Order: sequence, then structure tokens, then C-alpha cells
Amino acid sequence: MATTPAFDIVFFGGTGDLALRKLLPALYQAHKAGALHADGRIFALGRKPIGLEGYLDLLQQRVRPKLGGDYDDKVWESFVSRLQFQTLDAGNIEDYRKLVAAMDSPGNRITVCYLATAPHLFIPICQNLAAVGLNHPCVRIVLEKPLGHDLESSGTISEAVGQCFAENQIYRIDHYLGKESVQNLMAIRFGNTLFEPLWRREWIDNIQITIAEDLGVEERGEFYDRTGALRDMLQSHLLQLLCIVAMEPPPSLSEDAIRDEKLKVLRSLKPFSTEDVLSKSVRGQYRSGAINGMPVAGYREELNVAPDSNTETFVALQAEIVNWRWAGIPFFLRTGKRLQERVAEIVINFRDVPHALFPSPLGSHCANRMVIGLQPKESVRLYFLAKEPGDAMNLQSTYLNLDFHAMSKSRRADAYERLLLDVIRGQLSLFMRRDEQAQAWAWVEPILECWNKHSVPPKPYTAGSWGPAASSALVSRAGVVWHEET
Ligand code: BG6
Repeated sequence: MATTPAFDIVFFGGTGDLALRKLLPALYQAHKAGALHADGRIFALGRKPIGLEGYLDLLQQRVRPKLGGDYDDKVWESFVSRLQFQTLDAGNIEDYRKLVAAMDSPGNRITVCYLATAPHLFIPICQNLAAVGLNHPCVRIVLEKPLGHDLESSGTISEAVGQCFAENQIYRIDHYLGKESVQNLMAIRFGNTLFEPLWRREWIDNIQITIAEDLGVEERGEFYDRTGALRDMLQSHLLQLLCIVAMEPPPSLSEDAIRDEKLKVLRSLKPFSTEDVLSKSVRGQYRSGAINGMPVAGYREELNVAPDSNTETFVALQAEIVNWRWAGIPFFLRTGKRLQERVAEIVINFRDVPHALFPSPLGSHCANRMVIGLQPKESVRLYFLAKEPGDAMNLQSTYLNLDFHAMSKSRRADAYERLLLDVIRGQLSLFMRRDEQAQAWAWVEPILECWNKHSVPPKPYTAGSWGPAASSALVSRAGVVWHEET
């Protein structure tokens, strides 16, 4: 693997959950794979003055266990020798000056400032970075989602950040775009002729995109209760998947070629009227139940969640893309916490044959189906009907299965590892552009407003189920069922 250029990476929120759970393990793996330049330093920033020693203790407790069998004493020692720890209060300019002094010669090398913090700190951090000169052309800034709370607040952040950094210095991260399986989705669509002629309204009945989690809100109750599933998952990850499924083939793999096509999809999403919101969206919230046989608490009993909270932990929507390729085809999007299992998949349901010659087996509606498994399994399953052995001409459903894990044993880089390397290398194509981000907010805004205005309460569902019954009713009104219910 080619190594990156020399770099400094600065983690704002260096003692936070994201840095310890995802970012540092990802950098360790990149280091172990030999992908990081020998002259690459990591500056972790935190508010508490724990010093480097305290920080290394924290890494021992929180990062090392995440590495499992990939942990190696020698590699760990050389990895942590890249680290420095600085105390920084995001609002205190003096702390930024100390950071610049510690960085010594920040003008000569790629400097990545990763804002793994709450979004309300994005503006002061960017302004302070600019004030101490850490916005020169070699600086790249990474912004974690959610970028704001709604269209207006995300616009305010974009505007303020845009005054400190040029657009090509800003990396808005959506980690789904870094997943191997999501990259593969592009390869399947645009590397083959096989599917493209069928990839349109003439042959497709409906498309379903699901990101289901069996986890609850864990220790993020406070954040989640302010956010909810629509902002946390749908506005970002699900819409990005939708874009990749529905976009036109880009003329090249250049960053703007891909982002232009995704933007066109977002712009073609039919806006939700109040009536649409009430009839084509479902909000849910989990009650206590069981996951894998283990009892789990309901959302309102979770740590730092209001006991009368009306935040949704589940959302299902019926979207429509109004262009020549897709007009009239329902796109069902669904995500939720504490569902039956962790699965992310895209299901393309093809139309039925125009004239049925054979007696149709039970449930043969949309018998031709392509199921693209994104996680935990990476696979493509192609379902079709074939003859059941015997005298009678009876058909049965069967499938071809392509298992990408079995196909290649090569190491699969975690999404954050890939994206961090892309930032250091200056590759923007897997990051969202400002207009894309704004368009995604603009589309979800009427849904948020309507839920708010009409006080649409979330429908309860039992933890360990597939969400509220209204979610099945939503798809059944279009004559279909969710894939796992077939
Ligand atoms: C994050 C959300 O963006 O994605 C979390 O904030 C969610 O709530 C997570 O759990 C899911 O990511 P993954 O990669 O585990 O599917």
C-alpha cells in the first residue's frame, strides 16, 4: 500500500467516544498496514489536563481492547510514539497558540484538523484555527455529522466554516461512504453491463433500503434525545445510499463528477407535503423487549433520556424520485435502533412477468429480487423462480448467492481508516459537498416541521421486533412487504 504524505492530524474531541472507538483504532490499523508516512504525527486534544501519560493510559483501556487479534506490542509501541496530547478549551485562543507552538512547523505539511466534537463547537473551533493561521492551504478540516440540527443551523455552520476555509479544504464525513460494501455498490452498478438496462422504472417495482441496528442508544442518550433517527441516520447515511442506488453513471470518478450526480438525485426527490408526511412516514420508539433472548430496557428508561421523550428511534419513509429513470417507483427507506438484528441492505424488487404461464407459488410477487447486503454480510443475492423437481410444473423461489467475504480474504479496511487516509491524501470524492449537505437537509426539513407542528408522537415498538406495525402497513399500501417479511 502506498504511504501517505507526511502529516499532522489533530483530533478535537481526542478523549471522546468517537476518537477512542473509531478514529484511533482506524489509525492504528493504517499504521500497522504501513499506510502512514513515517513522519506522521497525531495530536489528541482534550479539555482535561491529563497529559500524554494519562492519555496513553486511556488508550490502553479504551483503544487496545478494540484491536483484538490485530494488537501487537511492537506495532502499538511505534504507533503511540506518533502521539502527543494537548489540553485545549475550544473557546480559548491561547490554547490554539500553544497548539501551533507544539506543532512547530505546521506550514510545511498536510495538517488534518478532525472535529470529533458536538456541532455547536464547529464555528468557534474553525474561527480560532483561522485566527492562529491554521487555515493555510495545507490544512484540511473534517466535520463529523450531524452538521447542524436543521436546514438553518447547518447553513449557519457552512457559512461560518466557509469564511475560514475554502470548500476544497472541507471534508464532511459520512462514514457509510467509506464502507467497502458501499464502494462495491458503485462497482456493481457501474462496472457491469448486466444490471444497467434493468435499473429503471420499466423493470423495477420498488426499492427498499434498510439500516437496522440491534443496539440501543448506549451512552449517547443525551445526544440522541436531541437528535432522533431522522437526523442521525436518514438525513445522512440513508440518503447517501439512496443517491448511489439512483444516480446516473458519472462521466468519471473525479470528486465533482460523482458529487454532481448525487446532488441531482437529491434535487429530484419529491418534496413531502403535509399529507405525504402524515401518510408516507412512520416514526417509532422502542419499548422494553428482548434482543437475542436478553431483556433490554425501553428508550425512555435509557440513561440521559427524558422519561416522557417523544424522540423517534425508528423511521420509515416512502420517497419518490421524480425524473425519467425513477418517476412513480417507491423507494422505501427504513432505519431503527433495537430492531431484531443488525443488518444494512438494499433490495431491488423487479416487476412481475407480464403474463403468468405457471401457477404462481405463494409469495411470488416480486419473485425477481436483488438483495445487496452491506453489513454484517457483504453479499449479492439474486432471487428467481425455477421449477420444483417432480411431475407438476410447480415453481419455487431460489437464489444465486455471491459472498464477498468468501471471495477474497484480503483485509477490509474499516470505513474510518479509508476516509482518514483519503483526507491525508487529499481525495474528496467520498465526502459531501456543501450543496449536497444543504439539499439533504432541505428535503428532510418539511418532515421535521410537520412532525413538530402536528405533534406526531412516535409509535411504540417492542425492542427486538422490526419496528411499529405502521411500518409494514406503509409498504403494504403499495402492495409490497419488507424483504425480511417475505
Ligand atoms: C452513526 C450514528 O452515524 O452511525 C449512530 O450516529 C449509528 O447512531 C452508527 O449507530 C451506525 O454505524 P454502523 O457503521 O455501525 O452501521
